Amino acid sequence: MNQPPSGETEATAPTPGAGMAADIAEQPEVLAGILDRGSDEIAAVAARIAEYRPRSIVFTARGTSDHAALYAAYLTEIRLGLPAGLASPSVVTVYDSRPDWSGSLVIAVSQSGGSPDLAQVLAAARASGALTLAVTNAPDSPLAAEAELHLDVRAGHERAVAATKTYTAELLTLLLLIEGVRSGTGRVDPAESAALEKLPELAHDVLDGSDADELAGRYRFAERFVTTGRGYAYPTARETALKLMETSYLPSLAFSGADLLHGPLAMTDPGVPVLAVVGSGPGGHAMWNVLSQLGRQRADVVVVGAADLPGQTARLRTPAVDERLAAILDILPLQQLALHLAIGRGENPDAPRGLKKVTETM
Ligand code: F6R
Repeated sequence: MNQPPSGETEATAPTPGAGMAADIAEQPEVLAGILDRGSDEIAAVAARIAEYRPRSIVFTARGTSDHAALYAAYLTEIRLGLPAGLASPSVVTVYDSRPDWSGSLVIAVSQSGGSPDLAQVLAAARASGALTLAVTNAPDSPLAAEAELHLDVRAGHERAVAATKTYTAELLTLLLLIEGVRSGTGRVDPAESAALEKLPELAHDVLDGSDADELAGRYRFAERFVTTGRGYAYPTARETALKLMETSYLPSLAFSGADLLHGPLAMTDPGVPVLAVVGSGPGGHAMWNVLSQLGRQRADVVVVGAADLPGQTARLRTPAVDERLAAILDILPLQQLALHLAIGRGENPDAPRGLKKVTETM
């Protein structure tokens, strides 16, 4: 056996994917921490926003955080009845334009708070008379300093480069924020709180009982994926596609179920696995027609949700909860699927080749 040269100790190489696995496993604890320790801070910011009465809410974000922002845009329109949208940073940073954001709330969502473009959007929004909020996992970041209000998503240090626990932490923080604005007091309505309190335990059960590992074996040689969902499940589809692309380098296309029917359905066939996120509410029901059309294509459909559905070839089980909460749970087995697929394909998802922890864009 080879001995290390004298004076040197044998270094143990980190197991590929160990960091991402640990980040994924920590999510129930992170969610519990937000509910226990984060809720006062969120309630104070929500009360300030309720008092400000924004005419609309505009989000700005990149990558995984952009998917959390998309989720929050659905919440804003559905739960607050306010127009919401995602601002493109290039409007400010590349085209040097200054939209009139006065009277609006502009929220930047970012794990690192380190990308200069988001800070520039917030600076422009603030100068035009908007109220600004940064939602980050980095309270000392330039983005947090730029905003009038800040929320820490309390996910702690993320070991892997690919984001997992920061995503669900952003989702829950934004959910508590929007529900707090809706109640008007900043606090979530007590009728909603009981369901929220169960989230950490449900997250634990989903992670524990998932068949993602087995499914990853089955799709080890897949060449591409399609992901789909509607409403609150659409950000889940987008985030899943991103995870598959950045950790397994697998081309993955995400569509709203409706958009899939506007043409791209034609590229589905038995050789392209489709990951369909089908909740137990209106967004899920709107997917039934999509599933039957996928059935006609003889597509290989994995349903993520609480019920077996006609035409599925497999299911990743998640509980039947309100779709707002389902977004926080449905992504968990999909993160596990991305992790196991990457490892099965000989990649190290902790150090994906195309991604850094802080990406500085303009
Ligand atoms: C995805 C990922 C990236 C980051 C994005 C973060 O797993 O890690 O998409 O989400 O680069 O940008 P910030 O730090 O602004 O959230």
